[in-house]
Amino acid sequence: MKNLISISDLSREEILHILNLAEQIEAGTLKPDLDRKICVIAFLEESTRTVGSFQRAVLEMNGQIISFLGKENNSINKGEDARDSIRTMAAYGDFIVMRVLEEGLPRIASEIINKTIINGGDGANQHPSQALLDVYAIQKTQGKLENLTIGFIGDLKNGRTVHSLVQAMSFFHPKFKFISDPSLKIPASFTRELDEQGVEYEELTEIEDVLNELDICYMTRIQRNRFGDNEEEEYNRVKGSYILKASMLENVKPNLKILHPLPRVDEIARDVDTTSYAYYWEQLDGGIPIRKAIIYTCILEEVK
Ligand code: CP
Repeated sequence: MKNLISISDLSREEILHILNLAEQIEAGTLKPDLDRKICVIAFLEESTRTVGSFQRAVLEMNGQIISFLGKENNSINKGEDARDSIRTMAAYGDFIVMRVLEEGLPRIASEIINKTIINGGDGANQHPSQALLDVYAIQKTQGKLENLTIGFIGDLKNGRTVHSLVQAMSFFHPKFKFISDPSLKIPASFTRELDEQGVEYEELTEIEDVLNELDICYMTRIQRNRFGDNEEEEYNRVKGSYILKASMLENVKPNLKILHPLPRVDEIARDVDTTSYAYYWEQLDGGIPIRKAIIYTCILEEVK
């Protein structure tokens, strides 16, 4: 039994192994079978893609699903502590995929639950399965992972997919360009890690200053749901700060691919969708094989 709580739990080799499994699954040379094992889907924060792709992955692997969707539909709504709720939900299955608002709760759960836990996103902290599908998209589009220049644009403070992807790509000698409003910079805990690892990065405010240098442009939305009730004015100030339009792509590198974890709000204009640089819908398609690979390695593979 293995967990997937944070990208920092994985080695470079383990990341490459999961990508390799996903490739085999997509090619049909690996057909994992959960033999009716029950997956508990506990998504207490909203989701479309992560919940949908994990459910489809489990069903196509001959597994079964028990779902708990939304805080309002379970006993957390009666005042139950989320740790007790998660422990209870996990009791009904063989493994659990969870998404929660509370940062660090999947880690705490892993200390009290003796079943595989897969983190489907905890607050603004981590989203490791998304990062793995993002790395999968990068490998597919660039034919390599090493020595790429990757721009992260938008809400780098609250974007858990950014946090996980930065950690995942740090294994592959990247150059990072972080482009955000100063109030939405990537947290210092991540840049400290990059400093320690000797990873090259720059923090900027203008997308036009670096767009033509990028191999990967990773767009993110400004996360309205992470702003407090009294931060409406601040949200209105930063929303719409970065909108990528087709007219901005005239001098980009031919291999540039634009990724986005989705959902998109307004940060990629729809005229970008029909350019050869847009890859976010193909990126989405990698979600099912990657999540099958994660389940396979956590549940079915012999622990090495
Ligand atoms: N990328 C992602 O996590 O999307 P959902 O919130 O729709 O799951």
